[in-house]
Amino acid sequence: MIKIAPSILSADFMRLGEEIKAAEAAGIDLFHIDIMDGHFVPNMTIGPSIVEAINKITDVPLDVHLMIEEPDKYVKDFINAGADYLAVHIEASVHAHRTVQVIKESGIKAGIALNPATPACSLDHILQDLDFVVLMSVNPGFGGQSFIPQSMDKIKILKKLIQERGLSTLIEVDGGVKPDNARQVADAGADMLVMGSAFFSSKDYGTLTKKLREVLK
Ligand code: DX5
Ligand code: ZN
Repeated sequence: MIKIAPSILSADFMRLGEEIKAAEAAGIDLFHIDIMDGHFVPNMTIGPSIVEAINKITDVPLDVHLMIEEPDKYVKDFINAGADYLAVHIEASVHAHRTVQVIKESGIKAGIALNPATPACSLDHILQDLDFVVLMSVNPGFGGQSFIPQSMDKIKILKKLIQERGLSTLIEVDGGVKPDNARQVADAGADMLVMGSAFFSSKDYGTLTKKLREVLK
């Protein structure tokens, strides 16, 4: 089953607890949490203390996407805060292999995120160690951007690499995913779909989730 991961970046932060509860009641699979530092990306969001607070009010697994420089300095903080999936950007990692090992040793899922211009083959020598890859289909930093069309080919290329090697690495596609293109993105090879603006701008999260399950059948 394709996993649906609403990105809380587009939630109403004044009512974050209620938003989390409403999305959970809608039957989503993961919460995607975007961490931005104002250096790696031109925007800032939240830190480990908010992740910890979210973890206290939901049983839904937390998928934490670090868009920060020097991620190895902070992975432990996010592991301790309750991340179940944790991804760092390859472009920000000097010692990606070590960082991935630290994440895995803690018993949670380790991922690497790729910016749109970073080729899938940059993961050639680390793919076998990854539980998932976050394939960015927009330039990271903001919600509500349009899906970059050439991402579709990149998903297919990455899927082929994974299959040829007999790996079970999951592909999470992040950016510009909407009910209209969800089927196409899944057909290209996505296993997890992040959905920020399209999810939290919908009137009824339950109806939207049902619609997505139907589209993704
Ligand atoms: C972008 C973030 C995404 C974003 C997706 O930097 O990594 O997770 O929240 O939002 P939408 O679905 O609106 O493109
Ligand atoms: Zn993200």
